[in-house]
Amino acid sequence: MALAASCVPETFAPTLFGGLVLSLEASVVDLSTVANSASTQPSASSEDVSFCNVTVTYTHPGQNDSIIVETWLPVDNWNERFLAVGGGGWNAGRTAGTSAAMAAAIADGYATVTTDAGLGSYSDPSPWVNPSPGNVNMQYLQNFATSSLNDEAIIGKSLVRSFYGSDPAYSYWSGCSTGGRQGLTIAQRYPDIYDGIVSGAPVIYWTRMGMANTWPQQFMNMHGYYPYGCELEAIAAAAVEVCDGLDGVVDGLISDPDACLDSFNPQELVGTTISNCSQTGGEITISESAAKVASAFWDGPRTVKGDRVWYGPSIGAGLTLLAATNCSTGVCVATENLGWPLFRYFVAKDASWVSNNLSHEAWADMGHSAFQQWQSIMDFDDPDISRLQRAGGKLLTYHGLADPMIPAKGTEHYYELVAREFPDVHDFYRHFPVPGLGHCSGGAGGPPLGLLTQIRAWVEEGTAPDHAKMNFTHPDGTTQTRILCPYPQKAFYNGRCGNAAKLDCWSCVNRNAPARTSSSTSRNQWSF
Ligand SMILES: *[C@@H]1O[C@H](CO)[C@@H](O)[C@H](O)[C@H]1NC(C)=O
Ligand SMILES: *[C@@H]1O[C@H](CO)[C@@H](O)[C@H](O)[C@H]1NC(C)=O
Ligand SMILES: *[C@@H]1O[C@H](CO)[C@@H](O)[C@H](O)[C@H]1NC(C)=O
Ligand SMILES: *[C@@H]1O[C@H](CO)[C@@H](O)[C@H](O)[C@H]1NC(C)=O
Ligand SMILES: *[C@@H]1O[C@H](CO)[C@@H](O)[C@H](O)[C@H]1NC(C)=O
Repeated sequence: MALAASCVPETFAPTLFGGLVLSLEASVVDLSTVANSASTQPSASSEDVSFCNVTVTYTHPGQNDSIIVETWLPVDNWNERFLAVGGGGWNAGRTAGTSAAMAAAIADGYATVTTDAGLGSYSDPSPWVNPSPGNVNMQYLQNFATSSLNDEAIIGKSLVRSFYGSDPAYSYWSGCSTGGRQGLTIAQRYPDIYDGIVSGAPVIYWTRMGMANTWPQQFMNMHGYYPYGCELEAIAAAAVEVCDGLDGVVDGLISDPDACLDSFNPQELVGTTISNCSQTGGEITISESAAKVASAFWDGPRTVKGDRVWYGPSIGAGLTLLAATNCSTGVCVATENLGWPLFRYFVAKDASWVSNNLSHEAWADMGHSAFQQWQSIMDFDDPDISRLQRAGGKLLTYHGLADPMIPAKGTEHYYELVAREFPDVHDFYRHFPVPGLGHCSGGAGGPPLGLLTQIRAWVEEGTAPDHAKMNFTHPDGTTQTRILCPYPQKAFYNGRCGNAAKLDCWSCVNRNAPARTSSSTSRNQWSF
């Protein structure tokens, strides 16, 4: 209880080079009042504990920003560790999602921190990104991209020291999507602020990924193909059906999308009947244009010459998020989607810009311009993580192979680039592709269970994760647990063991890195 009495502003005096603290609030909060969620990392426990909520507002003088760092310090159960939780989408953190993850961290005894990077919690950047048409708020973007991450570590650790009288024994980062990107930003730019980093579905190739996100709509507009959602759903489901068993086990999951590319051709489904299309309420057949949209989606964006700009989501990933059409009038049209903000706010720099009917060339030119202007600020693809290695840091990434938004191949691509520079990459960085998992959650597969526990064991005891685990719902309705293997290993089912539902019938085996990946990692083969 002595600690609860210290939960007052006078206990804390964080300082930050280049930063000026504007205000600091501190008060005890009972965890039971915070919305909790078991779907986040780390897993939540139901313990009822309280924490000191310290909220620091600071500015970078001269930059006209105001950034909030919120740190929660366990009053009774501190495990002597510090855990920063990443954001999602256009949010650096301090959202409902980060609150749920922080609540789980508090239940496990971590001191935990999040930052809003001064951007609030808007779902798109329009409130801050273009202070006037034609201009981008570079300081705010820099806060989002990089500087807020170092700041929150410095501020959060200072609060820990003031409250408990000692530094955290170990510090960790955990996040998915933008949070995963932030983790790799830290690995590349601030390699000694955390001992262990867990990054899911990282948005590290921000400009190329933006182009991949616009590609399905761009392709539909270029060709005038606007399929019904039910056609695209039927094609994605057929891909799972055809490719599910390629690993020897029928379980509703595609575990090897590369092999699937050779086995499944959407064209073969043209003319297949869909008995009850949800958009028409009746029977329709799969059209040639739907098959072409699906192929273009999984293939990824290409220039006019046919050069690859980036990967598409892996085959089997759902199509209807990015290739969405609106058929409510009986005639299907394209819809606005996630990728266009890159073009609107960062290339046109005008909130009123709309994507209607760009030619292929105009689209590629705008993408190229995005790459030229923002790659150095928003793409985090530097494979030189030697400083992380020297600092003894450990890095785990994971990516859902059914991610319909951020191409899972991009994270393999990054791992391959790092592996090329570091033959001993496995000693400090491992990557886990996750069959069936959508974007951070959702899909037929489940998120990895307990990667934070595993990175703790790696950092603190030197026990590297030779596999991870996930739970998923088998098509027969049972919950099964499956191993996940560090890339480029893959999970192998020992058929003689007799039961694929049994975890110990599975092991991780070596495979040659797929030719598709190893030959494509040379930058020169990419357009731009
Ligand atoms: C922590 O304090 C800040 C500032 O008063 C407040 O906005 C925030 O909601 C608090 N968090 C919780 C979980 O109570
Ligand atoms: C600082 O930001 C506020 C809005 O947050 C704006 O009204 C003001 O004009 C800005 N000042 C400068 C000097 O840019
Ligand atoms: C679909 O189009 C209709 C008619 O133009 C429109 O009213 C509706 O808002 C659109 N729905 C979506 C999700 O865009
Ligand atoms: C896009 O252009 C095509 C022809 O190039 C035209 O048929 C179509 O109506 C246009 N769509 C929009 C939304 O302007
Ligand atoms: C995962 O599934 C197993 C059964 O296979 C179950 O015992 C375990 O509690 C599940 N774990 C989580 C976190 O859901």
